[in-house]
Amino acid sequence: MLYFWGMLKREQFGDDFEWGVTISAFQNEGWSDADGKGPSIWDTFTSNTSNINNADKIGHASNFYKQFEEDIKLASQMGLDVFRFSISWTRILPNGTGTVNAKGIAFYNKVIECCLSNGLKPYVTLYHWDLPQVLHEEGGWTNRQIVDWFLAYTEVCVQQFGDRVKHWVVMNEPMTFTGLGYFMGYHAPASKGIINFLKAAHHAVLCMAQGGRLIRKYIPDAQIGVALSCSYVKPVNRLPKNVRAAKRMEALLNRFFIEPLLGMGYPTDVMPALKMIQMIFKKGDEQRMHFDFDFIGLQYYFRVVARHSLNPPILFADEIPPVERKAILNTMNLDVYPKGLNKLLHFYAAYPKVKSIVLSESGVCFPDFLVNDHVYDTRRLKYHQKMLRQVKKAINQGLPIKGYFVWTLVDNFEWKEGFEPRFGLVYVDFKTQKRTIKHSGNWFREFLKGKVE
Ligand code: BGC
Repeated sequence: MLYFWGMLKREQFGDDFEWGVTISAFQNEGWSDADGKGPSIWDTFTSNTSNINNADKIGHASNFYKQFEEDIKLASQMGLDVFRFSISWTRILPNGTGTVNAKGIAFYNKVIECCLSNGLKPYVTLYHWDLPQVLHEEGGWTNRQIVDWFLAYTEVCVQQFGDRVKHWVVMNEPMTFTGLGYFMGYHAPASKGIINFLKAAHHAVLCMAQGGRLIRKYIPDAQIGVALSCSYVKPVNRLPKNVRAAKRMEALLNRFFIEPLLGMGYPTDVMPALKMIQMIFKKGDEQRMHFDFDFIGLQYYFRVVARHSLNPPILFADEIPPVERKAILNTMNLDVYPKGLNKLLHFYAAYPKVKSIVLSESGVCFPDFLVNDHVYDTRRLKYHQKMLRQVKKAINQGLPIKGYFVWTLVDNFEWKEGFEPRFGLVYVDFKTQKRTIKHSGNWFREFLKGKVE
């Protein structure tokens, strides 16, 4: 069958293409001290509401701990194949290491069973930023021991769930949690400085690679990946110093984690000062940093326009704020630019060791209004259509793109930005926890049923 280039139809993506949604433990579950769960750095950070936009209180977030069956059914009724969620480290290991909390294990067993009985493949993310508070008090990501702690946690997860879970995402967006949480002090645990960042980042690389090896040992047929943030970066103009600044920005945002994981080391070619990260290395780290991942998850939310700057050191580049550029902004004032996706997919597919790529998160926050039980979020709908066209183009160009997971199923707690940014296909009234499928969610269901856009 022939379609116009601009038309979208599920079958154009291939029979094996996986359609999914992604959520995360801290943003969705709520009930942060129920049934023996220990505190994470995000429980601590959000307990001081002055850290959060509008002083929002997280409360029970979007109540996944109690409403997981309803949410998983909603995903299944949309015709999706994949339900990606993360495990809360302190729900299963309240003290970070040591005693396993049977009630936490029971909860995730129920979630996994519910996915399977609703025809959804569970994709489990091991780390989506909610580090145990007790481990933070011992240095957290800046302490090399994090590698042992993380592996102990990983081992519990694969032992408990590995008989049913075959898809594992070892870590979610290491650049976001190390950059915002350990360099800028903007996210939990609000640490700052270049040394904290380099330590946290290097330890995250070791955890991803070592974690991958451990999962492979227990589950030889597992599909193992990581979820990396990426941005379409362009220089503000063609002045050589700005072009070079954009190259460094690109190295930081798009190459910093994938290259060591692929065995290529950190991108010191454009950032020679980054060589100082080797001070943190232990003998054998070059080999330890590398793992043969089955898939790379990409998460592209915004474009960056870069220019030369004396700050921050090592990078010597900064971003021209999207507001100043009069860009199309989402609720978080980020520059929404779907056209950048195809170029990014080419960039990652060009690494010879990248076997396949999944859009492990894709979504946008725009203001939503619930009117007479309807949310006409046409801008979100159009955004997904534009992103999907970029994916389809990449598939037609022969790139190994294997899935598209929407961020996110239901509106949830957007970290420091609180409840204001809504990304869901389903609207949540956070007072009553009532779910209303948005216009975009209805479109997705019809699209997945095979209807041409
Ligand atoms: C993260 C999510 C977050 C989303 C939207 C990603 O960086 O993985 O936790 O909610 O972006 O900002």
